[in-house]
Amino acid sequence: MKFFIDTADVKEIRDAADMGLIDGVTTNPSLVAKTGRKYVDVVREICELVDGPISAEVLSTDYEGMMREALEWRDVHANVVVKLPLTPDGLKATRACSKQGIATNVTLCFSANQALLAAKAGATYISPFIGRLDDISEDGMDLISKVVTIYRNYDFDTEVLVASVRHPVHVLQAALIGADVCTIPFKVIDQLAKHPLTDAGLAKFVEDARKIPR
Ligand code: G3P
Repeated sequence: MKFFIDTADVKEIRDAADMGLIDGVTTNPSLVAKTGRKYVDVVREICELVDGPISAEVLSTDYEGMMREALEWRDVHANVVVKLPLTPDGLKATRACSKQGIATNVTLCFSANQALLAAKAGATYISPFIGRLDDISEDGMDLISKVVTIYRNYDFDTEVLVASVRHPVHVLQAALIGADVCTIPFKVIDQLAKHPLTDAGLAKFVEDARKIPR
């Protein structure tokens, strides 16, 4: 499973990339708004830090506006993946981008049927939001299972990118199901590496190491 980091904070990206864990980056308008910086400046800097797919979202909600922005993002860097919302206009833009060879990440997916439409439109990635489904007492991981099954049934090339990840169990379940990509907030990447028995074991080794004659 590929690990993307879900952030627009370049410091977090740098730290995670230094651990050799990052295959790509996903951003969205809410994450970029937190930085106080221009979206394009953030994406340009990320492209210098990570050599992999970098999702940058369109801000328009109509087809013409999305296509205008998609072409602008395409010209920013070869690794930019245009993030489009799962709406009728977004699907139309996905189809048009696919025909022009522009990579897309279809976002705000909350149902298996929506994911089926995105694949049929030629999306490069589909982003089902699992945490937000869990938040309203639905089973986000059940959606991932369904989408993975449907895509396998019909050999779609669209990759399942698990988004809205909130904790390490989400990452584990995504890997068990066989999702292609999991986009993970920095805090959760940090949690993945930690285990109390590792800490306790290391403390004991450090203590015993002092007893070894030098
Ligand atoms: O990038 C989209 C997604 O991962 C958002 O997550 O936590 O705002 O639901 P969240």
